[in-house]
Amino acid sequence: MKGIILSGGSATRLFPLTATTSKQLLPIYDRQMIFYPLNVLVKAGIKDILIIVAPEQSGNFLNLLGSIFDKSDVRLEFKVQKNPRGLADAFIVGENFIGQDNVTMILGDNIFEDDFSEEIKNFKSGGKIFAVKVSDPERLGVVQFDTKMKAIKIVEKPKKWISDYAIPGLYIYDNRVIKAAKQVKPSARGEVEIVDINNWYLEKGELEVGLVRGKWLDAGTFDSLLEAGIYVKEKKLYEKFDPIINRAIVEFNEELKNLVKKKL
Ligand code: DAU
Repeated sequence: MKGIILSGGSATRLFPLTATTSKQLLPIYDRQMIFYPLNVLVKAGIKDILIIVAPEQSGNFLNLLGSIFDKSDVRLEFKVQKNPRGLADAFIVGENFIGQDNVTMILGDNIFEDDFSEEIKNFKSGGKIFAVKVSDPERLGVVQFDTKMKAIKIVEKPKKWISDYAIPGLYIYDNRVIKAAKQVKPSARGEVEIVDINNWYLEKGELEVGLVRGKWLDAGTFDSLLEAGIYVKEKKLYEKFDPIINRAIVEFNEELKNLVKKKL
């Protein structure tokens, strides 16, 4: 299983914060946002992770993450997505990186409280996505279930209500996702949408939908950014990070402090 964190885009909703840095490098309490999706993948034992970034932000990502796992067996690769063409583009940009493997893709601005290690480790084939009850389904990808909680319909940002179950930004697919992504045509908003990949698997009867139980936030607005920070602090979520990440952050901080001391 390979991992991809989609961390590009221009995050205009967060201007002026994102005029000087990437959304995924903004803080959620004591660490940058990207550590949260990174934690989901590392906790699940994924060792090969591709981080897809916007061209103008690549230096910032490298400064933070370029050597952070040098003392562990987690390997990070970086790729630039020249234009924010859509979520499905992750599997085209990441084609060589994925190779013949399965892949878990997570959005760089999604904060999950749940641990998905079992779902990721036990994944065999097809597609696996998740659903979470929200009060504003119209701004997200949405899944409709039948009475037996079997997924029957998936729609991106439905104008007419179909369900309160949103699809958060965590997607597990087998290797056919590359082929599926290449077939996706741009939507009315000009993006290759992840909904088309999910429907590709759904139509084949090969899409599983699990439920998210803990808190989920996409930290793409001022309110959700603040809410995420407060939630992390109150629930001490930083203590539940994989030790590989917490150790790497402590070492990174020490190195930085030493550098500053030397300069002084
Ligand atoms: O957060 C979950 C939602 O994410 C899903 O429910 C939707 O189905 C999915 O389409 C997506 O909706 P958004 O409208 O929130 O996507 P957004 O354009 O904000 O992009 C999500 C993240 O991915 C964001 O951090 C920027 C990054 N991104 C986005 C695009 C379109 C890229 O890195 N490259 C891209 O081309």
